[in-house]
Amino acid sequence: MKKVAVIVSALCMLIAPLAGIAANPDQDLKDFRDHFTKKFPSVPLQDFTNGVYSVDKASREQWEAFEDFPPYEIYVDKGEDIFNTPFKNGKTYSSCFPQAEKGIKQNFPYFSEKRGEVVTLEVAINECREKNGEKPLKYKTGKMAHLTAYLAYKSRGHKGNVQIVDSPESMAEYERGKKHFYAKRGQLNMSCADCHYYNAGGKVRADILSPAIGQTSHFPVYRNKWSLANSSGDGMGTLHRRYGGCNKQVRAKPFKAQSAEYRALEYFHTYMSNGLTMNGPGVRK
Ligand code: HEC
Repeated sequence: MKKVAVIVSALCMLIAPLAGIAANPDQDLKDFRDHFTKKFPSVPLQDFTNGVYSVDKASREQWEAFEDFPPYEIYVDKGEDIFNTPFKNGKTYSSCFPQAEKGIKQNFPYFSEKRGEVVTLEVAINECREKNGEKPLKYKTGKMAHLTAYLAYKSRGHKGNVQIVDSPESMAEYERGKKHFYAKRGQLNMSCADCHYYNAGGKVRADILSPAIGQTSHFPVYRNKWSLANSSGDGMGTLHRRYGGCNKQVRAKPFKAQSAEYRALEYFHTYMSNGLTMNGPGVRK
């Protein structure tokens, strides 16, 4: 059955653009959500934002204890400092993000008609820096992760509100992201969907797989694994860092953080969690 579903969805993706069948993000979202609510009838929809802990009761308690003294807190503070420290020209980030205090993360990523591309929060941050004569930040770790941790924190409580613009250019990016999600890749020949859609709640080696719905709500994330890999113990990482890690798990060559490919994936992936309440940053194994 699973195979049939994969083949059917792959065929649809092939045929749809040829036949001029319009992509239907609303229907996709409904189907995506229904899949998980049917698969996990006892999990309240909002609880999917807690990732694997929504379906793995055994590790949930330990995770909740982590959340009592969250290791990301000092990075939220660092992010706040960075956000409020003036650039050399005297301006601050709030000149680009006047609504940051009230929460802006829920509106990212978005499709810019003017530029014909998907704009993520990280890209917007670097644009702000460059506009103000500062060098761009690295996209996966460090200050970028601290700034986005702060902005995510400020956005807690808002519902995911990604808009899929109904234009051919925007739909092409949406379809590209959707295709990335369902396409098999790497030596293991597995898709994101194989692990996080069809087999969510199942196991890969020692890990239980989180459902794809709710995966984007809590980024950036502090991971114990990342903390151990860093001499300063900073375990913060962005969503695209995670995408790269998951591509590598199947021995596929990862794309660059903030490449058009990952931004398209984020456009689709984040839209699939629309309506769920933002709860970033998060802490994970
Ligand atoms: C071979 C299985 C596998 C594949 C394929 C895979 N992942 Fe993962 N992924 C994992 C495991 C294991 C984890 C850690 C446990 C968890 O949270 O699911 C993880 C974690 C994640 C997380 C973090 C979840 C959280 O709550 O913080 C995201 C986001 C994610 N994957 C996205 C993707 C995307 C997007 C793809 C496709 C590019 C993908 N994964 C492909 C196995 C996989």
